[in-house]
Formats: sequence, C-alpha cells, structure tokens
Amino acid sequence: MTRRLLVTSALPYANGAIHLGHLVEYIQTDIWVRFQKLRGHTCYYVCADDTHGTPIMLRAEQEGITPEALIERVGIEHRRDFAGFLIDFDHYGSTHSPATRGYAEDIYLRLRAEGLIEVRSIEQFYDPVKAMFLPDRYIRGECPRCGAKDQYGDNCESCGAAYTPSELKNPYSAVSGSKPELRASDHHFFKLSDPRCQDFLRRYTREAGRLQPEAANKMQEWLGAEGENKLSDWDISRDAPYFGFEIPGAPGKYFYVWLDAPIGYFGSFKELVAKRQAAGEDIDLAAFLEPGAAAAVGTEMYHFIGKDILYFHALFWPAELEHAGYRTPTAIFAHGFLTVDGAKMSKSRGTFITAESYLGQGLNPEWLRYYYAAKLNASMEDIDLNLDDFIARVNSDLVGKYLNIASRTAGFVTRQGGGRLAVADEQLPVIQAIRAAAPRIAELYEAREFGRAMREIMALADQANQYVDQHKPWELARDPGSTAALIGVCSNALNVFRLLALLLKPVLPALAHAVEDFLRIVPLTWSDLGHLLAPGHAIAPYRHLMRRIERKEVDALLEANRTTLTQEPAAAASGGASPIRHGEAAQHAAHAATQADAGATISIDTFAQVDLRIARIVDAAAVEGADKLLRLELDLGALGRRQVFAGIKSAYGPEALIGRLTVMVANLAPRKMKFGLSEGMVLAASDADGDSPGIFLLAPDTGAEPGMRVK
Ligand code: MSP
Ligand code: ZN
Repeated sequence: MTRRLLVTSALPYANGAIHLGHLVEYIQTDIWVRFQKLRGHTCYYVCADDTHGTPIMLRAEQEGITPEALIERVGIEHRRDFAGFLIDFDHYGSTHSPATRGYAEDIYLRLRAEGLIEVRSIEQFYDPVKAMFLPDRYIRGECPRCGAKDQYGDNCESCGAAYTPSELKNPYSAVSGSKPELRASDHHFFKLSDPRCQDFLRRYTREAGRLQPEAANKMQEWLGAEGENKLSDWDISRDAPYFGFEIPGAPGKYFYVWLDAPIGYFGSFKELVAKRQAAGEDIDLAAFLEPGAAAAVGTEMYHFIGKDILYFHALFWPAELEHAGYRTPTAIFAHGFLTVDGAKMSKSRGTFITAESYLGQGLNPEWLRYYYAAKLNASMEDIDLNLDDFIARVNSDLVGKYLNIASRTAGFVTRQGGGRLAVADEQLPVIQAIRAAAPRIAELYEAREFGRAMREIMALADQANQYVDQHKPWELARDPGSTAALIGVCSNALNVFRLLALLLKPVLPALAHAVEDFLRIVPLTWSDLGHLLAPGHAIAPYRHLMRRIERKEVDALLEANRTTLTQEPAAAASGGASPIRHGEAAQHAAHAATQADAGATISIDTFAQVDLRIARIVDAAAVEGADKLLRLELDLGALGRRQVFAGIKSAYGPEALIGRLTVMVANLAPRKMKFGLSEGMVLAASDADGDSPGIFLLAPDTGAEPGMRVK
C-alpha cells in the first residue's frame, strides 16, 4: 500500500546561521524522508524559516535594515546551507507568508469561536526609552538570592536560582539600559486550562505511537493526574512594536512568534500544494489538513523536532489543531542535542561549527550524514560528534569497507572483461544475506534506528570483503586461464556493491548517484533488491568516489570557527568601527558570530575583556600571494612588538602607514596563517560588509603613546 506522508523539521530561526547542531535534525529527517520515497511512498517534506519575534526585530534594527530584508537574506543563506548538506525539502518557505498568515488567523478565529481565547490585562516590564514591552530575556539585574550582577530575567547563572523578572534587584533593560517600569496591557490567551484541552491532551499524548515513551512520560508529568488542572493558559499575543502578524480585530496586538511558527508547517505545505497543482500533480490539501478527509484517505503527518521544543509541539500545537478543527500530528519525533567531543558546542573552542564553514573548508557533507546516521536512534538522548571517532568511522566504514568492494574489483572488469559484467550468482551467501537483512534494515529506518541500520549494512560490507579476500581477484588476474573466474568474482562483488548502495541511499544520496553513474544504471529504488545486473551489462571505468578525511582538515575547521570576543557583532553591526580580521580565513568565523548571536547588548565586563592598545606601525609590507593583506609590524611600547596581517591593502599602500598610530586588539589569540603568525588585529571602519572601497584605519588624537590602553 502506498502511504501518503507530510513530514516536517522544526523551522530554524531567521536570525542565526545553520550549524552542525541543527543539522542533526535536518539530516535525520531527510534520511527518513528519502527512505520513504525510496520505498515508493508519497512523501512531502516541508520546512520554512521562523521569521517573527522580538530578537529578529531588534537584530534588523541593529543592522540598520528592515526585518523583511533580514529574513530575506538569512532565508537565502539557510537554503544554500541545507542544499549543501543534501537536505531535499519539497518546499522551503517562510512564516512571513500570506499562507501562514491565513492559517494563523483562521486557527485563532476558530479557537475564539470555541470560547478558547480569553483577553485579560497583565503587568509586564516596559522599557520607557525604547517604548516597548520587554521579553524576559531582555531584562537583566541583580540576582534576588545571591546578588550576582547582570543576571537574566528568569534565572541566575551564578547560583542557579529561578525567579520572575519582577523579583530582580535593580532591573535594567538590555535593549536600552534604562530602568524598566511595570505596565498593564491586554493579552490574548489560549485557554489550555479549559477541561476540553486538558482531557484531549491527556488522551492524545497517551495514544500509541504519538510520542516516544520518554516524551509521553514528560507530558503526563506536565499534565498531572486526572482531574488535576495543571496547565495554565498560554499567552499568545505581544504588543507593538513587534515583527509578526497583527491579530484580527485587535489593533496593536500581534501573534506571539510561537503561535504562528508551527502554523508555518501548514503555510509551507499550502505553497507546495499550489506549486505542484500548477505543475499538474494530483495533490489535495484537504486530504492532509482536514480531520475527516485525512482519516478517510489515511494521510499521515510527522514532526521531527529537538527535545527543547517538545512542549510547544506535543501540547500547544495538537490542542490548537484539535479545537480549531484541523487534523492532529500522527506522531512527533524528538531527538537529543548535539555535543562535540563530549561538551556543548563552544565558540571559543571552535566547536560551534557552522554549516557554511564545514562546506567552505572542503569537507564532504556525506561524511557528516553518515556519521550522524551511525549515531542516531529513536530516543531523545544527546548525540556526540567525537571528532576522532568521526574521522575513524568515516574512513574505515565508507572508504575502508564499502568503497573498497568496488575499488579492488572494478578495474579488472574494465581491463580484462571489456567493461562488461558476467552473470552474478543469485545463491551467493552475501547476496542472500543482503536480501534476508533488507526487511529488517527497512524496519530500522522506519523506526529511526539509523545507527543499528548502519551497523547491519557494514556487517554485510564486511562479508562482501571477506568474499573478495577468499577469491583473491589480484591472483586470478595473473593467470590468463582464470579470466572467466576473475570476472565472475568481480561481477559478484559489484552486484553486492550495487545492493549496498541502495541500502545506504537514504543516507548517502550523492554517493549513490555516483555509483549509479559508475554502474550505468537508472536511479535505484527499493524494489531493485529483487534482481541483479544482467550478464553483459556494461559499466563505466571506476574512479574514486570518496576520499578519506584527515585530522588536519578537522583542525582547520575548528580554527575557522574559533571566535574571539572582538568578533562579536555589536560593534560591526551598529555601523561603527569594524575590526579588520586576520585575513580572509577568519571571515567564516566572523560570519558565524554575526549569525549566531542574537543578544542585543554586552555588559561592560564583557567589553573590558578586550585589551585595546595604541600601536605604532613601524613596518608595513605587501604579502606575496595575498592580494588583500598587508603585513604590519606594530610597536606596543612596554608590551613589545607584534606582527599582524590586516586586510587593508585595497585602501592603503604600505608607505602611507609606516610611522602612524592606530588601535589594536592586543589579546586576540594568535592565529597561524599561510604567511606567518598573526598576533592581533588593527581596528578600522568600513561599510556593512566590510569590503573595499571604504576602509578607514582608526587613529588616536595627538599625544597618545604606543602601549596605552583604550577603554
Ligand atoms: N524556531 C524554533 C522552532 C519552531 S518549529 C515550529 C527553533 N529554532 S532553532 O533554530 O533554535 O532550532 C531549530 C531546530 O534545531 C530545533 O528542533 C532544535 O531543537 C534543533 N537544534 C538546535 N540546536 C541543536 C543542537 N545543538 N543539537 C540538536 N538539535 C538542535 O527552535
Ligand atoms: Zn544568584
């Protein structure tokens, strides 16, 4: 029976770069979707950028652009990164779309008609300078318990206390620094406390297959026992100024970003349906979104998410859908968080790795897809990217086991078999083993037990290599009388190679494509397991399909992602002085910092960590092989001399610089470059993207001396 599935991944925020943590989710979903399609099912994979909310509004303001321009730019970057990792969305939209607005209004109005929306006045902190209500994360102050300064509005990083923003001592707005005042305003609430919602959720979250066991338990905890009314109403509105959709009939009130975010799944799907219908495909929106039609046709809807957003997807979202008359998710699949070498991703260690930098450094996206597949299972456990294990696993499994089957047999077919295969042995134990294992491997894919599927496939690859070891084609090749035997062995091996390419295809689609080209076959689908290549089938000469990873590439990747405080966006984005970084290589890192940090301000303590000094340029010279760089020798007085490579050649000739005073970051971690060590950076102003023609080196007023501190 052909299934019809609608599958989503969570919508990434439109103010940050895609990083390897995100990719756990998109790779996991993509593998599952590709598997469904390979099996012949009809499966639609949609996603979108999550574009609304205060952080995006403030971020755009800080960059001096409109939110629309910001989300447009980030949308392009996200699509590029996902395509680079072979994430094959059927449609990638934006929550800032007419389709999403339409569903958001409709769901809101239907809930209101059901009596599930209530308006009541609440008191909240208001920034009188910025004239806006402040989300908790933008209120800071002293911890009410231990007195630690500069703590967030909800908990203390120093002593761990949890509290509400109104309990903070000496609160201040992180947006303007002003003292916030409490003000009342009307808010719209979705009445989760209504018995209809509680009863529905208690039933829904217990139904077989909806949630993973550990997620279902969490939900029961949140819901409490029968009769216990534990859920409180959910505040779904925000006051202007806000970047989002205005609530119908409520001027100046906007839908909270988390209200319209999951609705973006529907908005994106609606766009997909329109696109496909225009292309003549028979695809019906109602069959996926309306409960009656969905039940009649048997369509399925799945959300892949991280465990951090379970609450929104397993409680708010199904309750909204149920009571607004839409279909509810068939199941919600939550995964754990990525750690790198056993620790949280860290900018200072360089393990906050962006998708862009990974690809930009020339690493193969399928290495990561395979490694994640090998680590993923159906649970919510965190998964660790252990970098040594990553290298070892990819090299040994993909290159050493899988590709080895072809790389040591294909050449003989080309040279001694005229490029044509002989008849393959249907009874060969490894071929039989593959066919016997295939249904189990399919079950593992279906159940999201990708790690176990990879282990089964690699055990089959081992068996294939043992077969080659036993029959030693390289020895047969020396005996002219054994050519038939030689081509027979190699044909068996290449048929096994083809079957394994098929089993790996959801994980390694580009590699499978290269194998299809090499074997000169049409795209493999699951039913191809049932037959082998016909005798006489001509193959192309074998070329290496994937190389090994080297440790030094991974080290360079970490280096490219290592971010120092000075590379954070505040200064550069506000249009002020932007640091000229250590040459081009640092651009990835800089980009990562700009993209990843949504925080609007830094504390004075953070700023004080930057050691800015007056420096005299005592020597300047062009750098051979680098058309943007100058090598500067800087005198820092008592701090001695430093060498810095600065990307200012387009604006300054070396002679014009010698003898000048400027400002440098003196405590930037030194960085090894192709041309030598760079030991800091000099400051210069430039336009938003830091490109020529305008680069203006900073200079102190007369009287400043080398080595003086700038603060
Ligand atoms: N915009 C919301 C989701 C709205 S869905 C209607 C959001 N965005 S996010 O960009 O922060 O995260 C997108 C997805 O990536 C989430 O499912 C999140 O759990 C996942 N991950 C983000 N960082 C991650 C790791 N470090 N590790 C694994 N997954 C991570 O949440
Ligand atoms: Zn504290």
